[in-house]
Amino acid sequence: PKCASKPKLTSIPSDITCVADYEALAKDYIDTPVYEYIAGGSGNEQSLRANIEAFQSVQLVNRLLVDCSAGTTATQLLGQSFRHPVLLAPVAYQKLVHPLGELETARAAEALDTCMVTSTLSSCTLEEIAQAHQGNRWFQLYFQVDRAHTLDLVRRAEAAGYSALMVTLDASIQASNRRAKRAGFQFPTAVRPENLQRYQPPQQVTLSTDQSVIFQGAMAEAPGWSDLEWLLANTSLPVLVKGVLHPNDAKQLAAMGVSGVVVSNHGGRALDGVPSAVHVLPQIRAALGKDVTVLADGGVRSGYDVFKLLALGADAVMVGRPLLYGLAVAGALGVAHILRMLRDELEVCMALTGCPTLQEIDRQCLWHSEQET
Ligand code: FNR
Repeated sequence: PKCASKPKLTSIPSDITCVADYEALAKDYIDTPVYEYIAGGSGNEQSLRANIEAFQSVQLVNRLLVDCSAGTTATQLLGQSFRHPVLLAPVAYQKLVHPLGELETARAAEALDTCMVTSTLSSCTLEEIAQAHQGNRWFQLYFQVDRAHTLDLVRRAEAAGYSALMVTLDASIQASNRRAKRAGFQFPTAVRPENLQRYQPPQQVTLSTDQSVIFQGAMAEAPGWSDLEWLLANTSLPVLVKGVLHPNDAKQLAAMGVSGVVVSNHGGRALDGVPSAVHVLPQIRAALGKDVTVLADGGVRSGYDVFKLLALGADAVMVGRPLLYGLAVAGALGVAHILRMLRDELEVCMALTGCPTLQEIDRQCLWHSEQET
């Protein structure tokens, strides 16, 4: 496998003009097995492809002579103020692509006034990350096998000033990433889930040969509705649930008191074959009405994509892989540059569709063929 030894860029050359440029460059800055682990999806990668392709079927309509001179991308989510509706998705083990990992991402989030969502599986501690990023920061929670560990993570996040919990529920089982497997990907020993180092690892269950690794193994330890209820009763932070694709799940979550949902297929890394957020977002928004916060992610590679998800019903969107590509190529500077380009492109869309604020962005901004209307 190719070993990428290029030193990170310390200034941005003018021929890097969009996220796709970072994506192409990243291959020179990331060892091949790691690149395959990041870029790959689960199964046959049907959902991974859908995430990118779905945006191609959504078309915008420009509007004329609208005064957008007072335009702004500012918004409120969960009662918190945001400069723009693009968040950095929770992405595990960022030291895979940069020796300082999440700390660099946090610096970029700070510089661009962006909310960073720190993964339970971060390769720096959540406390270190919080110190590097004083602005809006949320914590992504994976339920631990031991409730005491889950509760300790929540208390640590609260103490470190994280202002929301994003509970990811679509990955109880690690679906195989074939590309990573074929490339021989293994975690370097230096890249560890630092938040979890202080906890005693759960006892390995020994399964007999007639037991299923999935059902009696992973699923025996997976959380259920009662665990989510327990969490809601044990934190004062607003809770969002990530990985929602079915309107009935969305409704049940809202009825339980969850503050928001993230329409996501985990970047095509969980159940393969599910549709992209582009396809299910309108149904989820319709099921929830306008008062529940709805985020979406998967395949966002430009401000145009951001705009499309907002038009389809999202209040904000997140980017996953693009942040890793920026981090790999140019550290904090690369991540900051990506955020800046996404914001600039979003502003172009808003100006030319005649939407001075995010409130104006809706289905009317999209072109529908006559059959549909
Ligand atoms: C992820 N994602 C993820 N999600 C989560 O809730 N917790 C996590 O620790 C991770 N880790 C992770 C690692 C890597 C390498 C990737 C690519 C993704 C999913 C992430 O939050 C987000 O949903 C997707 O990345 C969005 O799709 P795009 O932007 O990568 O296309």
